[in-house]
Amino acid sequence: MSILPTPNSRKHNFSAGPGALPFEVLEEIARELPDFRGLGISIMEMSHRSKEFEGVVADTRAALTRLLGLGADYEILLIQGGASQQFAMVPMNLGPGGVYLNTGEWASKAVEEAQRWGETFEAYSGKAETFRDLPSEEQRFDGPVGAKYLHYTSNNTLYGTQFHHLPRTNLPLVCDVSSDFISRPVDMTRFDLVYAGAQKNAGPSGVTIVVAKRDVLRTFKGDSRVPTIFRYQTHAENETMYNTPNCFGIWVVGLMARWVERQGGVAAMEVLGREKADLIYSAIDERPDFYQGHAVKAVRSLMNITFRCATEALDEAFMAEADRRSLISLKGHRKVGGMRASIYNAVPKESVAALADLIRTFGR
Ligand SMILES: Cc1ncc(COP(=O)(O)O)c(C=O)c1O
Repeated sequence: MSILPTPNSRKHNFSAGPGALPFEVLEEIARELPDFRGLGISIMEMSHRSKEFEGVVADTRAALTRLLGLGADYEILLIQGGASQQFAMVPMNLGPGGVYLNTGEWASKAVEEAQRWGETFEAYSGKAETFRDLPSEEQRFDGPVGAKYLHYTSNNTLYGTQFHHLPRTNLPLVCDVSSDFISRPVDMTRFDLVYAGAQKNAGPSGVTIVVAKRDVLRTFKGDSRVPTIFRYQTHAENETMYNTPNCFGIWVVGLMARWVERQGGVAAMEVLGREKADLIYSAIDERPDFYQGHAVKAVRSLMNITFRCATEALDEAFMAEADRRSLISLKGHRKVGGMRASIYNAVPKESVAALADLIRTFGR
């Protein structure tokens, strides 16, 4: 008897995170889990110091290196604590003196954590307009004298906005890429450091991916009070195994990275991502009298699509009908209301088409 459901029994999952994983990857996990590579134990039961697990870490880092097109001057850490811990680690290691673009809830949290650690400059805030817009491509953010880095959030998961350009600055760029990691080609040479919780585009929760220039990671310039475990240098010098890592999670991030490679890499993900997003945005835009998108059109996200009906009662009815059709996790974040469809890499086009169909028929 198979321990797996059939692909047909799966729901159309629009969860904002942890998000959907490809069925193919779930099958690989189920097949390999009880007896990892014929070793007679699972990956969750072996020493993280074993040569087998070292191989898993090397494979995962190598797959991500290929996907991101990283040069030898970049390094990848696979640590814990989520993107939320990075909000603190960035200023502890690179700051104080960060310049921040406050484009949403998570960006606001990053600002707050940086402020705890010292002088922080909020160079932009979209709060007054409920974070529906982003800075334009023309705006520059060089920051005051002594500024150390520019931090921004490439995709604002709650509000459904996404940068489609790199902010102009003469400062080193640092970015929270949690919700659009490996979903499109990015010139990584422009960044000193990026970080992402894996649980949206790249695997299960519990693994935080930090990609940064080697010298940024390996040269600790912070305050002596910074605890050992919160120093990038600690994790870099210990080849990302200073303490017991999330062994299972790191393995699955590797499986997910190789799945993206099989789909054609990040360029193919972007093409597919645009096709998927267009299906939903065009269905919403056909009925401006019935549906309103939250984000300004020019900064609409390809990952999280936020929209609402004219009344909360209609939103509720929409979600009830969605549920009846096995379309789940469409409720918008409480700060935004309405609906949110998260259509990360692994959400199949068929699921997105099913949602576009619901948007059209419900509107009628
Ligand atoms: C853009 C962004 N940053 C940070 C976070 C927080 O991530 P974590 O739960 O991994 O700390 C999230 C989670 O949804 C997010 O979407």
